[in-house]
Amino acid sequence: MNTLTIIQPDDWHLHVRTGAILNTVIAHTARQFKRAIIMPNLKPPVTSVELALNYRDEILQALPKDSEFEPLMTLYLTNQTTVDDVKKVAASDAIHAFKLYPAGATTNSDAGVNNVTAVYPILEAMQQHNVPLLIHGEVTDEDCDIFDRERVFIERYLTDIVKQFPALKIVLEHVTTEEAVQFVESASSNIAATITPQHLHYNRNAILVGGIRPHHYCLPILKREKHRLALVKAATSGNPKFFLGTDSAPHLTHLKENACGCAGCYSAHAAIELYAEVFEKENALDKLEAFASFYGADFYGLPRNKQTITLEKQNWTVPASYGESDIMITPLKANETLAWKLI
Ligand code: DOR
Ligand code: ZN
Repeated sequence: MNTLTIIQPDDWHLHVRTGAILNTVIAHTARQFKRAIIMPNLKPPVTSVELALNYRDEILQALPKDSEFEPLMTLYLTNQTTVDDVKKVAASDAIHAFKLYPAGATTNSDAGVNNVTAVYPILEAMQQHNVPLLIHGEVTDEDCDIFDRERVFIERYLTDIVKQFPALKIVLEHVTTEEAVQFVESASSNIAATITPQHLHYNRNAILVGGIRPHHYCLPILKREKHRLALVKAATSGNPKFFLGTDSAPHLTHLKENACGCAGCYSAHAAIELYAEVFEKENALDKLEAFASFYGADFYGLPRNKQTITLEKQNWTVPASYGESDIMITPLKANETLAWKLI
């Protein structure tokens, strides 16, 4: 197969930041995706409807002229979130979910939740008003090994959340383990998961073999090969509980190539191509469209897109970096050859 035309995809988990970084990255997303769920972990975090609408305006301003890209906003769940905030989100056409970060779990998560059961009244309201909960599923205990943090979060917190709020729509974001895949598969249809390109392409050796590779460092961290294989199987299975969410997370190159490097892989420059490569290797290109363009929209109760995009089987080399003057962002697969190209 030399070309592949699919309904235009959406990105159900995306970081675009603000200011100069936003201006550098947004066109990459807008050229392939019709919509994206925008993460609220700014500094300060997007905790109110007003802040989310201002952020939405900033994103719309940063888009290339004539772009039809639509940012789908989210609010950052904190210990201060109120039932009234939930009602406002439910009434808003622009805001689609709350994001739960355990405090300290990842980039700009300090304002996150440090006692999950304390926000149960808010989850109750979200269930009642049909507002989805998006979860960064990792515990933050210092004594919990970083490679076990997702599995332990599921055992310790997610299992109970699902039990207490059986009708709450939940997306377990950027799943990285066999256990997460099994949990989602065996849960009811209101529990889904996003899968990133890096977790489909790499196992944890990609961070550490032959030298430390900071551009492969993200959270949840890459896991063993058996987990990668479980993710590839889930993504290419045609199960509507698993859909595309890049978690593309731009950081300046010098802040990743650093003694204490930031977590996040930048993949928006080639997201759909990166997924296509994985699906092709599995002989599952016929499953890409539903994973990328149908299941997420269906889960969120939004219409499927109408336009199409076309990919061509054509080698191209990813640039070493993107950005101008003091903005430099190193993309996933920098200087490497990709097999598919969006035309
Ligand atoms: O690697 C990550 N980067 N994981 C996250 O959860 C956050 C993200 C970011 O904002 O950089
Ligand atoms: Zn993220």
